[in-house]
Amino acid sequence: MSKPSYLGLLNSIAVNEAKGQVLLQTWADHTADEQLRATLEFVAIREGEHAWTFTKRLCELGYAVDETRAFQVFKDFDGLLACAASDASDAEKVALLAGDGSDDDSNDPFRGFFNDTSIDPQTGALLGRYIAEERDSGRRLRAEYDRVRATAEAAAADVVAAPTQNGHSNYEIELDEMRRCIAELQEDIAALRKKVKKLR
Ligand SMILES: [Fe+2]
Repeated sequence: MSKPSYLGLLNSIAVNEAKGQVLLQTWADHTADEQLRATLEFVAIREGEHAWTFTKRLCELGYAVDETRAFQVFKDFDGLLACAASDASDAEKVALLAGDGSDDDSNDPFRGFFNDTSIDPQTGALLGRYIAEERDSGRRLRAEYDRVRATAEAAAADVVAAPTQNGHSNYEIELDEMRRCIAELQEDIAALRKKVKKLR
């Protein structure tokens, strides 16, 4: 049997799905948001299963996973992993790990997978399931990312808008405090200037 032309595709899936699992599971282990954690873990399990499924298929075809030859989906994997494990908020992690939210169906990366007409039926069946699951995972993650963004935006708006004392928001009170500090500093500077003038 000649060397299949789609080994590179299978290899890249195996490598990047394994990384996806580590990234999502790490984030799941570092969030207090139970709903987000459940989705991250669900998708992480899928990613891990995909990694093993395609590693196994490569084995069946007589080849091994080779990370050095894989297309790298995560350009700065170590940086992303550090972010996932950090104390940054989930909204900050969404901004870094999930981008700006434009990763919708119009950017579907799987459209060309079956352009290779030599794909054998067994591999084709695995790829079909893989693609459908990836698209479903994408929808689930996007829904959670949208919820996390909206929650963070609402919380930020509350801080600005929430009436506290005499109808003033926390934000307005902080601004007043800063203005008072600046005025005091200006008075101190003016007094110092006078002293310096007298000394001359
Ligand atoms: Fe994936």
